Amino acid sequence: MAYQVIIPAAGLGKRMRAGKNKLLLELKEVPVLIHTLRVFEEDEACRKIILAINPQDEKEIKKLLNKYQITKVNDLVAGGQERQHSIHNGLKTVHGDGIILVHDAARPFIRKDHIHRLTEKAEETGAAIIGVPAKDTMKKVTNGVVMETVERSSLWVVQTPQAFRISILKEAYEKAARDQFVGTDDASLVERLDAEVSIVEGDYDNIKLTTPEDLYFAEAIIKKREKEFY
Ligand code: CTP
Ligand code: MG
Repeated sequence: MAYQVIIPAAGLGKRMRAGKNKLLLELKEVPVLIHTLRVFEEDEACRKIILAINPQDEKEIKKLLNKYQITKVNDLVAGGQERQHSIHNGLKTVHGDGIILVHDAARPFIRKDHIHRLTEKAEETGAAIIGVPAKDTMKKVTNGVVMETVERSSLWVVQTPQAFRISILKEAYEKAARDQFVGTDDASLVERLDAEVSIVEGDYDNIKLTTPEDLYFAEAIIKKREKEFY
């Protein structure tokens, strides 16, 4: 069940409007980035973390890795223009043919048991992603007008991590680069190979910190987990 993980952390966090990379904001006095890295640092199945960062954050991030004793980040790679480019830079440092995960640094609430279920599925099928069934009624809209109501039972909201056999993800990224295709997640690149992607049900707590109100949700999730723990 061993795996390596690429963690893209090179964004600007514009929608969070914090005046700096949102991953450096603190939850319970610990930076978001460290919350995320700790999950993998403490998971014995995780062999290596490849972290993509923006060079302007390098000094601060190196200091944090040291302070919080994150030892599995052997490779710091420079991020690119888009998330996909940051991950591609990380993927170029990955060799062999085990399982590689991609997980957004902005999702600090991922749970170890879900990572393991996902990794096992990817070992079995070659490609697996985590997500949750859509809860709201979904409609397709064009120019402010509803075109149709989409059958909800077949819709899932997709998160990270996403897990792949290394050779499959490399092939998908190479093809996307050749075709100049930019997708919003990693699985969409693998889908273009006509490879099958499995989905594993995760939980609704695995939010991505994107806009300021997500910080309120984050506080609530932390409180809930503290209660679970004690
Ligand atoms: N990311 C990255 N390289 C980029 C863009 C994003 O590594 N060029 C990372 C972010 O740091 C984040 C993850 O990809 O961990 C998901 O991206 P998103 O939530 O969109 O974060 P940002 O791009 O930082 O935020 P925004 O789009 O609001 O600027
Ligand atoms: Mg972004």
